[in-house]
Amino acid sequence: MTAPIVLGVESSCDETGFGIVSEGRLLGQGLASSAAQHAEFGGVVPEIAARAHLDVAVPTLQVALADAGVELRDITHVAATSGPGLATAVHVGLAAAKSIAWSLDVPLYGVHHLAGHAAADVLEHGPLPERSIVLIVSGGHTSILAVGDLVRDPIEHLGDTLDDAAGEAFDKVARLLGLGYPGGPVISRAAADGDPTSFSFPRAMLRPQDAPYTFSFSGLKTAVARTVETLERAGESVPVADIAASFEQAVVDVLVTKALRAVQDRGLDTLIIVGGVAANARLRAQAQERCDALGVDLRIPPPRLCTDNGAMIAAVGDLLVHAGADPSGLGIAADPSAVLHGAQLPLPR
Ligand code: KG4
Ligand code: ZN
Repeated sequence: MTAPIVLGVESSCDETGFGIVSEGRLLGQGLASSAAQHAEFGGVVPEIAARAHLDVAVPTLQVALADAGVELRDITHVAATSGPGLATAVHVGLAAAKSIAWSLDVPLYGVHHLAGHAAADVLEHGPLPERSIVLIVSGGHTSILAVGDLVRDPIEHLGDTLDDAAGEAFDKVARLLGLGYPGGPVISRAAADGDPTSFSFPRAMLRPQDAPYTFSFSGLKTAVARTVETLERAGESVPVADIAASFEQAVVDVLVTKALRAVQDRGLDTLIIVGGVAANARLRAQAQERCDALGVDLRIPPPRLCTDNGAMIAAVGDLLVHAGADPSGLGIAADPSAVLHGAQLPLPR
């Protein structure tokens, strides 16, 4: 039998992604972003995102097929993000995936977007170890997970954020510094010239009495806002690079400290960091330094696979096919607020 060739479809936020994976290997992908259309609003506008997915879906799929050097008829399985995400945006990709699966008469798998982020690392570093800690840091989520086999075992949620996600904090702070959207890359660029010790912004939830794996970033965002306000009221110029670097450092300190605490508490030796914020250079460098000091194996996908893309969804599909999972079927609905218990949606009974 020839190897399965899995098409992954991603449309949960402002990225339209199609990726093609076979036997754990990325054959090619196409990616389009409507980020520029949201910039003037300082965040993603769901209706604009959904319309953009509809506009670019077919050409982006064509790019993916050409990049992979395969024809549409070569696709043997389709996987699509069916949640969580912006409802109207998820609907467009899921409808596209259903049409493709139906017209090719191939199985369709609904995929949990966050499991996709974790699976992106498989494309770069190979199969996951037997057990690991996964830190997911994206625009909508900040979670520490204990993960075994990504598609066969239940995913154990150790902690989440009480308020803003890490990426959301980057986006909000970028907006109040007048840096535009998405906030991560622009803050990161500004921070490169700044002194991360110039402002001591709060590191929340790190006291012994705090929940060990729970995050909170809204106080940090407020502290940055107060600092900017105070400087402006005093007629002083706002040192954007220093504020950006100090903010970034505060986020990185908390993320790495809590993720490594989970690794050590569980007696594990692998930390995997995924999601859009994992593209951050300071986070990557400091996580590496602290993992090296503790003898922990650190895996982070390359930046282009950290932010949303179709390849990561195809990677989950590929794992599901190899695990012999039952397809989700053409009747699956979008689940915009799906909680992460397993990689496939809906969870097989
Ligand atoms: O995973 P992702 O592409 O979409 C979601 O699933 O939410 O993550 C997007 C988030 C945005 O908040 C963006 O500002 C952030 O990832 N991000 C970064 C960087 N690149 C993207 N944050 C920090 N540093 C970066 N280089
Ligand atoms: Zn994402």
